[in-house]
Amino acid sequence: MIRACIFDLDGVLVDTAHYHFLAWKRLANELGFELTPADNEQLKGVSRMQSLDIVLQLGGITATEHEKEVLANKKNAWFNDFVDRMMPEEIFPGVKQLIRELKAKGVKVGLASSSKNAKTVIQLLGIQNEFDAIVDGTMIVNSKPHPEIFLLTAEKLGIVPEECLVFEDAEAGVEAALAAGMKCVGVGSPLQLNRAHEVVAKTADFKITELAKL
Ligand code: BG6
Ligand code: MG
Repeated sequence: MIRACIFDLDGVLVDTAHYHFLAWKRLANELGFELTPADNEQLKGVSRMQSLDIVLQLGGITATEHEKEVLANKKNAWFNDFVDRMMPEEIFPGVKQLIRELKAKGVKVGLASSSKNAKTVIQLLGIQNEFDAIVDGTMIVNSKPHPEIFLLTAEKLGIVPEECLVFEDAEAGVEAALAAGMKCVGVGSPLQLNRAHEVVAKTADFKITELAKL
């Protein structure tokens, strides 16, 4: 029985995944190469520094630790330029309603985002008080696909992993949920997220009646 739903943030509650992509693409372009949407799939759900390592590898670029820090800060500043202009209306349609429905059914609701900007984003969306537990990139050591973030969220929620359902748009996130022993709804393409228990095109397409079937 599912007693808690744990939501990823970027690409599941709001399209900040696109802002991450645009910022990484700008960095790649500045470094002299192109970053495609297909390349970007590898970056989803992964921490900032790990994403940078992947980007540099794609461009065949080596950098010192100091240079990497400068590059990561640049990317984060560009990402935050988008976030600063974000409107509460940018939350994906139907998401607030889904969270409300889950809570009304007595299902606990958690947020598990690898992003160190997660708290700022949920505040801007006005949903910071909707969650029974929040775990972000500042609170974990191992980034997805490691299960740490989901296990910590479940612990904070007081629900065993087997009774948790994760909503994820990233391949790394789906793997992390499975590694945690949780059920997972993929948000996006079934080709990309074929390891999830169920895939929906949009978060709000998930029907609460499915909870009993998972
Ligand atoms: C994840 C995103 O939620 O957070 C990744 O899917 C991003 O694309 C990661 O790299 C870390 O985000 P931030 O905001 O800490 O750089
Ligand atoms: Mg995501």
